[in-house]
Amino acid sequence: MEGNLPNDFIDDIRSRFDIVEIVSQYVQLKRSGRNYFGLCPFHSEKTPSFSVSQEKQIFHCFGCGEGGNVFTFLMKIEGYSFPEAVAELAQRAGIPLPETRLSPAARKVQRSRQRLEEMMKLASRFYHSQLQQPGGRQAAAYLKQRGLTAEIIEYFALGYAPQAGDAIKSFLLRKGYTKAELLSAGLIIESERRSYDRFRDRIIFPISDQRGKVIAFGGRLLGNGQPKYLNSPETPLFNKSKTLYALHLAREHIRQNKRAVIFEGYMDVIAAHQAGIGEAVASLGTALTEAQARLLRNHTEEVIIVFDADTAGQAATWRGLAILRAAGCLVKVGVLPEELDPDSFIRRYGGEAFRRQILDRSQLLVDYQLARLVAQYNPENHSERIILFDKVAEVLAAVENAMEQEDYIRKAANLLKLPAHAVRREVDKLQKRRPTVTVSHSLPGQQFARQKAEEKAALQILVLWARFPAMITETAAELQPEDVPSEFADVFAAARQEAATFSPALLLDLLTEEKYRQILSRLLINEEYNEKTARKAVTDCVNYLRCARIARRRKEIERKLAKLDPGIAKGEIAELSREWLTLRKMEEELNLAREGGKGVESEYGQRT
Ligand code: UTP
Ligand code: MN
Repeated sequence: MEGNLPNDFIDDIRSRFDIVEIVSQYVQLKRSGRNYFGLCPFHSEKTPSFSVSQEKQIFHCFGCGEGGNVFTFLMKIEGYSFPEAVAELAQRAGIPLPETRLSPAARKVQRSRQRLEEMMKLASRFYHSQLQQPGGRQAAAYLKQRGLTAEIIEYFALGYAPQAGDAIKSFLLRKGYTKAELLSAGLIIESERRSYDRFRDRIIFPISDQRGKVIAFGGRLLGNGQPKYLNSPETPLFNKSKTLYALHLAREHIRQNKRAVIFEGYMDVIAAHQAGIGEAVASLGTALTEAQARLLRNHTEEVIIVFDADTAGQAATWRGLAILRAAGCLVKVGVLPEELDPDSFIRRYGGEAFRRQILDRSQLLVDYQLARLVAQYNPENHSERIILFDKVAEVLAAVENAMEQEDYIRKAANLLKLPAHAVRREVDKLQKRRPTVTVSHSLPGQQFARQKAEEKAALQILVLWARFPAMITETAAELQPEDVPSEFADVFAAARQEAATFSPALLLDLLTEEKYRQILSRLLINEEYNEKTARKAVTDCVNYLRCARIARRRKEIERKLAKLDPGIAKGEIAELSREWLTLRKMEEELNLAREGGKGVESEYGQRT
C-alpha cells in the first residue's frame, strides 16, 4: 500500500464511487453483456478493448494490458500519485483528508500543487477584475469591438493584464505566495536579478484543464505587434501538448452533438461558443498531438477540423490530421472561404450559417484531400496529370480500411478518368514499399504464460478470494504461510485480515506493481466462476502450492541425504528418511486430490 493513508479511509473513499461513473467522465462507455466497453484512453485504438466492470469495480484494457481500480484509473489519466487520487475523490465526496497520515513527501507534493492551483485561480480572478478598472477600459473596449458580449467574457473568464510590470507579482506576493511559486507557474519572468510580470498590457485568456482548473494563460496584444500571443510556459500544472483550449466548456456539448470542432485560435472558439457552437475547442498554437487526439476521442468519434485556406497547405496541419485518424477519429475537414477565419465568418454570417455551410458540408478527410489535389493539378494537362496520379495514389495508400480504400479507388478512378485497376495497381505498389508500422504492446497474456506456476496459483487464489470473500477463512486454513510465494506473503495476510471486505478493487490496491496489476485486472475481468467452481479452483491452487512446497522440501532432503556420511549420521539419516516418506505420501494424496496434478495448469490454459 502506498502513502500512509489509513486503509479503512481508503476503503471508504473507494466504495463511495462507481468506477463506471468516474471512467465515463473521460471515456464513452457502452454496455455489452456484463461489462462496459470503450476506447482505451491509454493507447490509440479504433475498436474498443477497454473494459470496465461495474460489479467488480475494476477496469482492464485487452489491448495494452492496463488495468486497475478507480484509483489506478485516476492516477493514470490525471497523472496523480496514489495519495493524490485518494485525495481527489475524498474532495469530490466532501470528506476531509486525515492529512497528518500522508507521508511527508506526498504531503509536500500535494500541498505545492494545491498552492499553485489556488494561485492560478486567484491570478485569473485578478486579471478578470482588471477589465472593470480604469486601466482596463481599453481592453474592455477591444473585446466589445470584437463582438464579445458581457456574458461570454464572463463565461470564458477573459481578463486584462495591466501595463505596469509588477501588477500580478505584487498582488500575489501580498496574498502570501512566494517569488519562487510565481516563477514556477510562469506568471513572472526573471532577468538580471529583476523579475516582472510575464503578461503586460494584454488580453488574458485563461487556459483550463478538462476539469476546469486554470493551469495557464494566453495573452493577446490589444493592437498589432509581435508576438501577437504569449502563452504560459510549461509548468508543473501545464503541459501544452496535453491540453485543448476550452475543452472543459465543450465537453458536454461534444457528447451531446456527438462531434467536436477544432479551431486554431482562441478567438475562434469564443466566437463559436457565443454563436451557439459549444462543441468547439482549439489546439494551443501547435499541430495536434496524440494526447490531444485521445482527449477528444474519449468524448466522441467525429471530429471536424476547420481551417482557413493558408493553413490547409502546411505540413503540420496534415500531421495533425493523420494523428487524429490514428487515434480512431472520424476526421472531417471544414473549409472556409478565402480570407476568412472562423471568427470573422461567424461575425459576418452568424452561427447558423456556420453550422449549415461549413460544419454540415465538411468533407471526410480523404474526399477533401482528393478534391484539393484535383483543384491543384489539372487532369487535362499531361505532366500535371502524372503528378496528380502519383499524389492521389499516395493519399489512397494511407487509407487502412480495405473496404474504404476500395471505395476511394473507384472515386479516384472516376476523377482521373482511368480504369480502377490502374489506380489499384499503383496503390498496391506504394503499400508494398512502405514498411508497416506496428505498435507493440507487451501482451499480458504472454507475460502471464511466463509466470512461474506457483505465482499463477497464488494470483488465482487471490482473484477468487476477491470474488468470493466468504471462502477466504475456510480455504486459508489449508494454507501454511510457507506455502505462499514470499512476494505475496503480505497480500495473503491482508486478505485473511480483511476477509470481510475483500474485493477486486481492494486487491488491486494491495498488489500495485504494474506487472501484477495487469495480470490481476485481466483475470478479474474474465472471471466467470460460480461459487462451486470457484471453491474447486481455489482448492486446486491451494493444493498445488502445498505440493510445490512439499516437493521443494523433499528435494532438499534428497540433496542432504546424498551428502551425509552413512557411517556418522545414522540418526539424522533415519529422521530425514522418515520425513521424506511422509512428504512423499502427502504429495501422492494431494496429487490424487488434484486429479493427477492437472488442475492448475488446465485452469490457466483456458484463461490465458
Ligand atoms: P491566429 O493568429 O489565427 O489568432 O493564431 P486568432 O486566435 O485568430 O486571434 P485574433 O483573431 O487575431 O485575435 C491562432 C492561434 O495560434 C496561437 C494562438 O493560440 C492563437 O489563438 N498563436 C498565434 C500564438 O501562440 N502566438 C502568436 O504569436 C500567434
Ligand atoms: Mn482570428
